Amino acid sequence: MNDTTRDSSQLILALSKGRIFEDTLPLLSAAGIEVLENPETSRKLILATNDPGIRVLIVRASDVPTYVQHGAADFGVAGKDVLLEHGGEGLYQPIDLRIACCRMSVAANAGFDYDNAVRQGARLRVATKFVHTAREHFAKKGVHVDLIKLYGSMELAPLVGLSDAIVDVVSTGGTLRANNLVEVEKIMEISSRLVVNQAALKLKRERLQPIIDAFERASKQQQ
Ligand code: ADP
Ligand code: PRP
Ligand code: MG
Repeated sequence: MNDTTRDSSQLILALSKGRIFEDTLPLLSAAGIEVLENPETSRKLILATNDPGIRVLIVRASDVPTYVQHGAADFGVAGKDVLLEHGGEGLYQPIDLRIACCRMSVAANAGFDYDNAVRQGARLRVATKFVHTAREHFAKKGVHVDLIKLYGSMELAPLVGLSDAIVDVVSTGGTLRANNLVEVEKIMEISSRLVVNQAALKLKRERLQPIIDAFERASKQQQ
């Protein structure tokens, strides 16, 4: 635990830029918190808010659980996809914020007969950044896979023969369509969760609980 976690008057929130930052702003607003800088235009990684006791860290989406787990941030917002890969150790997950909604799916080239390959017991090459979730999904189905770890643009892998299929998040399906890929199996629904450092929850409960409550109310109203 570091000094940040011990100072019960200061709160640090970890967010990633893009959709999580944008979708968290209305929730922060419901808790009376306004972020004073825009991470899209500022190069700053620690952003001030209208509350001198609350600062926002801008980190990679997949790093949010790590900052919160180690107490470098008291709380954060991360996708279920990211949390499943991280494992969730040291994190309290009080609410589903119902933002950044998408689904985790298997996709393949339009010409690839995925169901038949599965029926035949073929060994599949699957490219993904979600290796943990993918391994678990295929193990449950009894499908043998060679997982190929990528860090982005998974859609490219089947197009150039790197893999037979991918596991990625899908929302509108536009990216799959643009690359002549087909969603062949849905694995799970995904949304973003509030994650709280377990020690901070105890030591800073008075400061954190009203924000958690405001987030919960606002996320229910958004439905
Ligand atoms: P990254 O840089 O890791 O791709 P993103 O901001 O794209 O970060 O994604 C953050 C989270 O938003 C993901 O962990 C996932 O839960 C969700 N997400 C990803 N892509 C989409 C999408 N196209 N539509 C809605 N939610 C998404
Ligand atoms: C995500 C995801 C897919 C796409 C799916 O990419 O990795 O490529 O969204 O959304 P769709 O079904 O609406 O097309 P993102 O936009 O986050 O770009 P990234 O490569 O920077 O992660
Ligand atoms: Mg993305």
